[in-house]
Amino acid sequence: MQPDVKRALVFGGSGVVGSAVLGELARRGVHAVFTYRRGEDRAHVLARKLGHHPVQVDLADAAATTAMLDAQGAIDVVIHCAGISAGLGLTELDVAAWQEAMAVNVQSAFLACRWVAARGRRCDVVLVGGLDRTQSLPLPVHFAASQGALAALAMAAAHELGRLDIRVNAIALGPLEAGISTGLAARRRKDYETFSALRRPGKAAEVAKAIAWLALENTFIQGKVIAVNGGI
Ligand SMILES: NC(=O)c1ccc[n+]([C@@H]2O[C@H](COP(=O)([O-])OP(=O)(O)OC[C@H]3O[C@@H](n4cnc5c(N)ncnc54)[C@H](OP(=O)(O)O)[C@@H]3O)[C@@H](O)[C@H]2O)c1
Repeated sequence: MQPDVKRALVFGGSGVVGSAVLGELARRGVHAVFTYRRGEDRAHVLARKLGHHPVQVDLADAAATTAMLDAQGAIDVVIHCAGISAGLGLTELDVAAWQEAMAVNVQSAFLACRWVAARGRRCDVVLVGGLDRTQSLPLPVHFAASQGALAALAMAAAHELGRLDIRVNAIALGPLEAGISTGLAARRRKDYETFSALRRPGKAAEVAKAIAWLALENTFIQGKVIAVNGGI
């Protein structure tokens, strides 16, 4: 682990991936502040069990997200695991759903990167998403577009912030046993399993180890998307 990592900020800690990340951070002795929105009960269970600190915020609301960030003290690591999707086809997708996906999945990550940049201190930022920049996958359009933007955000922010010893990277997950991708049609989930080299969905606990490694131990990967997807 890098020296002096004491506190993490985890967006979407109440989610399947975020909860596993919180568990992994606790195991490694790192205290976290984590966000939730609707999952209040789950957030309080996690806080009691792991000793982390929950904060309720709507990440689609830029002002509320900025206020939440500005209320934080020293943070050494930011892990963005909040995300939404919906199994909508292009003709069913309205502007509100598009804007919400962009706000939760990307705008809040941009606000986090901007906040880290303004503080100008060493930090590791990991943006958890679902699309490697080179992949071609049958994803809902609004989700895919937000994930492409997330990956490009990591690349460009990494160039701008590297001189401050700030690393920004993304992780592109494949379908897991639980969480956001359970909204995919059963046939589509089966396709992913068939075409993944490991022939199975991932477990939140195993991807959390990769996320924690990138957040806590990486020193020279910068601006990249690391695929953690069983070989899709
Ligand atoms: N699970 C998978 O199979 C999979 C596959 C590929 C990529 N990923 C990526 O992994 C990340 C996490 O996914 P997940 O499976 O953990 O999803 P999840 O279990 O559905 O959790 C989503 C998280 O985002 C939070 N969230 C959603 N809308 C919010 C809003 N408006 N304001 C604040 N928080 C909000 C949720 O908070 P509340 O529940 O408290 O409202 C929850 O903490 C996403 O970026 C996703 O793209 C996951």
